[in-house]
Amino acid sequence: MTWRASVLTLFPDMFPGPLGQSLAGRALQETIWSLDVADIRNFGIGKHRKVDDTPFGGGAGMVMRADVVDAAVASVADGRPIVYPTPRGRRFTQADAQRFAAGNGIVLVCGRYEGLDQRAIEARSMEEVSIGDYVLSGGELAALVLLDSVVRLLPGVMGAAESAEEESFSAGLLEYPHFTRPAEWAGRTVPDVLLSGNHAAVAAWRQAESEQITMQRRPDLWAARPSNL
Ligand code: ADE
Repeated sequence: MTWRASVLTLFPDMFPGPLGQSLAGRALQETIWSLDVADIRNFGIGKHRKVDDTPFGGGAGMVMRADVVDAAVASVADGRPIVYPTPRGRRFTQADAQRFAAGNGIVLVCGRYEGLDQRAIEARSMEEVSIGDYVLSGGELAALVLLDSVVRLLPGVMGAAESAEEESFSAGLLEYPHFTRPAEWAGRTVPDVLLSGNHAAVAAWRQAESEQITMQRRPDLWAARPSNL
């Protein structure tokens, strides 16, 4: 069955954007997944289709109205997880991507301005996720990132080679470095072991490189790696 993504946004033209290209774009054409985009403005209040208002308690910016957001959610909700990308969310990880890929699909609610009225989040038990410790102008780019990470995991999207690679990141280590022809370029050579034809030695070298680079760059991942638990 087709994996369904529904996106609620004030900027529908931002979709599918990059997801219409390459791996995700081909999978979209092959109906491995589907994308429907609803303009939250269509659920706005009154002649001016108002979607936001000033924050109670004062302060800068505007808050997206709970009644408007909830009406937009109601138009697509069917039991799929409802995800709200926000820098206040828990960190989105590969494990989340795998969990969403294993389900029927997802509803993504993109916030702009100062974000959603808290009651809209709680009324639908939205899952709040952050794609990293930086602030984007809205949830749309985060939604695109999240969808890309999920869609590539859907059955039939990637070849067997990439699938196997996937498991290595899931094992909690960064990837070893890659090399291809020419064997010498600009005075730079390739590690001898990779030209040796000794598959066991290559595997051992790659494992050691993965461990070293993970230790150096991501001590947090190294400390939490599965073989350490
Ligand atoms: N919206 C704005 N910034 C974000 C972030 N870092 N992650 C998810 N959603 C966001």
